[in-house]
Amino acid sequence: MQGLFDTHVHLNDQSLIQDIDGVIARAEAEGVARMLCVGWDIDSSRRAVEIASRYRNIWASVGVHPHDAKSLDADSMAEIKDLAGKPKVVALGEIGLDFYRDLSPRPVQESAFRKQLAIAKELDLPVIIHDRDAGADIMRIILDEGPPAAGGVMHCFSEDADYALQAVELGFYIGIAGPVTFNKSDALREVVRKVPEDRLLIETDAPYLTPEPFRGRKPNEPSFVRFVAEKIAEVRKTDAETIAKITDANAERLFKRLRNKV
Ligand code: NI
Repeated sequence: MQGLFDTHVHLNDQSLIQDIDGVIARAEAEGVARMLCVGWDIDSSRRAVEIASRYRNIWASVGVHPHDAKSLDADSMAEIKDLAGKPKVVALGEIGLDFYRDLSPRPVQESAFRKQLAIAKELDLPVIIHDRDAGADIMRIILDEGPPAAGGVMHCFSEDADYALQAVELGFYIGIAGPVTFNKSDALREVVRKVPEDRLLIETDAPYLTPEPFRGRKPNEPSFVRFVAEKIAEVRKTDAETIAKITDANAERLFKRLRNKV
């Protein structure tokens, strides 16, 4: 396998950063050609930018996750804007709503989501959206604010096929992660069947959500993105190389700054 693009990985997480050269070497050995390192607060966004500056095949995204929404004040808004202008930053995120863990009050999450959508629009950057048990509210806010012209990705997609097609209609890509390999994920595999091929992305969300066959046995890492590609290929009755090629081209279309020379 070659040319895999893990479009959502937290190499800036302590568990991965401590062995980052090993993590990257194992990913490359499994055919991972590019990775997008995603921030969730100011510090992790800074680390994402720093990691991207050190490795030719890693890019960065900066933003404040709904868990950390209560930390988004005027200073951190300014810092996000500043970081978003750094070389190799290709997206704003992850941003959104998490009504499963509710680590920030919901009105605070909504406000942080709206503010960062506005930053993304101002900078013409695509957004990386985190949705956990909050699909209806995310859609309400996107329709209310208007979808960003630069588009975005519904990362680690967990809604149904109708929702996916509505998101596609609004200019979004659908990020498929490890859960597509889980036994109970028939609804997600239905999404994978129905989404137009030019809107699919693959990701690990490592160190979380290890795919089968390593679920429950190993922490996730980007080398495992091939299991996601292989499952998508099985569902869509094609081969994993084709899925790698298609999803890589999709990522390049969405994350336009990948083409910037640095
Ligand atoms: Ni994530």
